[in-house]
Amino acid sequence: MTMEGRARPERAWWKEAIVYQIYPRSFFDASGDGVGDLAGVLAKLDYLQALGVDAVWLSPIYRSPGADHGYDVSDYREIDPQFGTMADFERLVREADARGIRLVLDLVVNHTSDEHPWFYASRQGIVPYRDFYIWRTGKNGGLPNRWRSVFGGPAWTYVPERNAYYLHLFSPKQPDLNWDLPAVRQEVYRLMRFWLEKGVAGFRMDVINAIGKPELDDETDAVGFERVINHPKAFRYLEEMYEAVLKGADLLTVGETPGVTPEHAWRYAALGRGPLGMIFPFEHMTVDIGATKWEPAPFDVVRWKRVLFRWQTKLEGRAWPALYLGNHDQPRPVSRFGDDGEYRVAAAKLLAALLLLQKGTPFVYQGEEIGMTNVRFPSIDDYRDIETLNFYREGRERGVAEETLMAAIHRMSRDNARTPMQWSAGKNAGFTSGTPWIRVNPNYREINVEAAWADPESVLHFYRALIALRKRVPALVYGRLVPLCPDDPAVIAFLREDEAGPWLVALNLSPVPTTWPLPRPIAGRPMVRVLDNRHRPPAYWDPATPIPVAWGDGEAAAFAEVGGGKAAGGPEIGAPGERPPERGGHGAGPSTFAGEGRRETPVGAAGPDGKQTAADVRRGSWEVERPEAFRLGPYEARVYRMAPPGHRRRRPGEGDG
Ligand code: NOJ
Repeated sequence: MTMEGRARPERAWWKEAIVYQIYPRSFFDASGDGVGDLAGVLAKLDYLQALGVDAVWLSPIYRSPGADHGYDVSDYREIDPQFGTMADFERLVREADARGIRLVLDLVVNHTSDEHPWFYASRQGIVPYRDFYIWRTGKNGGLPNRWRSVFGGPAWTYVPERNAYYLHLFSPKQPDLNWDLPAVRQEVYRLMRFWLEKGVAGFRMDVINAIGKPELDDETDAVGFERVINHPKAFRYLEEMYEAVLKGADLLTVGETPGVTPEHAWRYAALGRGPLGMIFPFEHMTVDIGATKWEPAPFDVVRWKRVLFRWQTKLEGRAWPALYLGNHDQPRPVSRFGDDGEYRVAAAKLLAALLLLQKGTPFVYQGEEIGMTNVRFPSIDDYRDIETLNFYREGRERGVAEETLMAAIHRMSRDNARTPMQWSAGKNAGFTSGTPWIRVNPNYREINVEAAWADPESVLHFYRALIALRKRVPALVYGRLVPLCPDDPAVIAFLREDEAGPWLVALNLSPVPTTWPLPRPIAGRPMVRVLDNRHRPPAYWDPATPIPVAWGDGEAAAFAEVGGGKAAGGPEIGAPGERPPERGGHGAGPSTFAGEGRRETPVGAAGPDGKQTAADVRRGSWEVERPEAFRLGPYEARVYRMAPPGHRRRRPGEGDG
């Protein structure tokens, strides 16, 4: 089948949404016990609304012994007491809804906790739970096979009561469910319905491409997970789940799917046909690692953008992309792909433009919007992540030097993303009044939400401007992405285009200035700079701030405003001010901020009150450029609205016709 003639993707709320991932234990602690909670999320809803967030994906909040911080569930229908109560959850759904924010839950059903009642029953051989998990007897006095688990050690653990081993692709505290058993699948569908009835808007599905297990007679000593993923059974079970639960419901579904190719996306998330709405790619997160995540490989911009662009072009017309640069399992993107020193602010903004201006649904991980960085705790005792701790212990047992292990941990540990959200320069970064479960990153005095909110040139306000821009310009959501300059060693550039004409994004992902000769036919075409990461970002969240969309004649362009009325995202949301919106804190919600503080000025505009009016725009205060080349500074990012292909300058005396 060719791409020609394929229908444009149908509009859907989750394609237009900005999703914000919350790792609840590190977000905001309202109770003061040192662990973030649901009341903490509630307290920050106004902040999320002001950012422009449409949906929140909550990492697991179910009851859990916490061996993998909630990715080991012992009761799927209860809220873990650390996070609050079911009443807190129901309130959160309501209050989020009142702000136009939907909640997406993490569905962790490849495995449960070994403390789940199903597992207790299974290990005793009690029917009907006996075969809920994957049990095998040992072979030749040893394990059923030689697979290793993702977190180190064998993928099998022996249980004397059954005189058998159970499979756990992750830790022994995370036994894998036996999806071949129809009763297991029915249990999962039931628990999904339970949460849908509470008003959740979808699911992020943890390692969902591992649910279909192959025969287990594999003789290799591979990481078991890698032998399991993308088995045809996984696809079959997802199809069944779709029929049983998802069909007809207007949900956001995204599979966490390590080891997938674009071709897998065509199946799992085929437009309008696949069992899932989207899948998370991993390929772009592997370009800077060796055989394992702990071994570094040099980060190469050309290699990276080849991967990014291949996914974009292969998915065009066939599957809707899910975009992310970081999450709770990955290092901080600004440290990993950008620069967390001298150019931190510019690099974080550049990565924001890359994340938010590609085609697909962007997932922003908490703290990215203020450019939070990796952490370098001096001692292993400061780390909490099971994967990190196992890596360290096994390394020491093998005699690897402490410095070598710590260097790898500083670079790749999942705890880089799990240090508490930095709200203020106050005690514990404003995260908790108690003792935080993991130390805060010492750079919180400089990098925090309060400081970012007060600074109109912060990463945070750049995110707000980008998000608002994306919401007002259909081409930035649904327009095709056309890659440019695939071989340039520093510049990532692309077009987004629909019938209304192209947008140009140019990003210098390097600390050295570079000249990028614009390729034909873009070179010399009239264009207007709509946003860049060197100047104060225009207030696109303010509906009075115009965005150039239509080209007129003469040297100056005439513009019509996109949208009009309120920018998507609900009530007036404020300009930068001293304090970010906070419930019960400093004023009662976003309306407090509407119209307060300084008015923002679009780049190139100069109204008397510092605000560009539609009349200014008509007078041509947008500067029209006809560049042949861009000279881009370190980590410079620019976004342009270009004249549509048919545009030409009218000659003097030429009439309207
Ligand atoms: C992927 C999750 O994102 C990660 O945090 C977890 O450890 C594994 N799946 C196992 O559930």
